[in-house]
Amino acid sequence: MGLVFLVSVLLLSVTSAVNSCPPSDLAALLAFKSALHEPYLGIFNSWTGTDCCHNWYGVSCDSTTRRVADINLRGESEDPIFEKAHRSGYMTGSISPAICKLERLSNIVIADWKGISGEIPACITSLPYLRILDLIANRISGPIPSEIGKLKLLRVLNVADNLISGNIPLSIVNLPGLTHLDLSNNRISGTIPRDIGKLRMLSRALLSRNMISGQIPSSISNIYRLADLDLSVNQIYGPIPESLGKMPVLATLNLDSNRIYGRIPASLLGGSGLSILNLSRNSIEGYIPDVFGPRSYFTALDLSRNKIRGPIPKSILSASYIGHLDLSYNHLCGRIPAGSPFNHLEASSFAYNDCLCGLPLRTC
Ligand SMILES: *[C@@H]1O[C@H](CO)[C@@H](O)[C@H](O)[C@H]1NC(C)=O
Repeated sequence: MGLVFLVSVLLLSVTSAVNSCPPSDLAALLAFKSALHEPYLGIFNSWTGTDCCHNWYGVSCDSTTRRVADINLRGESEDPIFEKAHRSGYMTGSISPAICKLERLSNIVIADWKGISGEIPACITSLPYLRILDLIANRISGPIPSEIGKLKLLRVLNVADNLISGNIPLSIVNLPGLTHLDLSNNRISGTIPRDIGKLRMLSRALLSRNMISGQIPSSISNIYRLADLDLSVNQIYGPIPESLGKMPVLATLNLDSNRIYGRIPASLLGGSGLSILNLSRNSIEGYIPDVFGPRSYFTALDLSRNKIRGPIPKSILSASYIGHLDLSYNHLCGRIPAGSPFNHLEASSFAYNDCLCGLPLRTC
């Protein structure tokens, strides 16, 4: 009897040791939780007991190390917990530096909670396994940690739709695997690091709606995989590097609402592979280059609200497709070419120029 008891006590303690996550991870998660307040869904109700690797909402562990590998908390989700509450998530509080004690973390997703404030803990840059840092749509302020370049495995850095300020850290160019950079809609100032072209794996660079100034570094055109470059609604000035039109997979280029001047590089229009080009609301001068051809295929081409003069070039009729065209509010003059890419366009595409004529405007 005594032996059976002893054996079962032993077994119990063995199983409970197997079923609890490392005490340091447990303590770190509880400290992380205590800095947050989630009043509507109860997502933290499951964070009880000692096995943080099992059934803790949004937490998962590496199956071999049993260390916490992912924190995945999204405030917009199709999880039943949201359906039951008939609402999206809302959370206040801040991201505790205790998260940095989860030294095996590979993904941190704390997204779309709308109300989480405070700063990104600087110690996050000491998490050597971190691949994804996604904090989109909160109220996080303060800078991007200056040592972000220490995160050698980082692939996704998304802090869009927050209140982040300060500069883009220079060390960011030392993230060799970064594929997705989204800093949109914050209060970031300063310039784009000159050697941003070192980010050879980058495919999306979204920096719109900040207070970024300085020129577009021409090294950007070394980023072979870049498909989507959005620098719109900033204070970027100077010319557009001609080399941007020679990038092999660049499909979307949004430079609208900046202080860009100089001419439109011919390379952007004559078959660059761009399908969306928005240069609206800048101070671009000169003529529209007469370089359109069968490889020009634009779902949207917006050159409106600049200082562009001269005629609409005849070659535009040889473009294979132009879905949405906006040339309004410039100083264009002359006959609007008549032909296929233009038949569907309305007068508003050409309005407020100096002396354009022909359909869909008045006859010449
Ligand atoms: C281009 O940018 C302007 C200003 O930022 C915006 O109003 C416009 O809708 C954009 N054009 C297209 C085609 O998206």
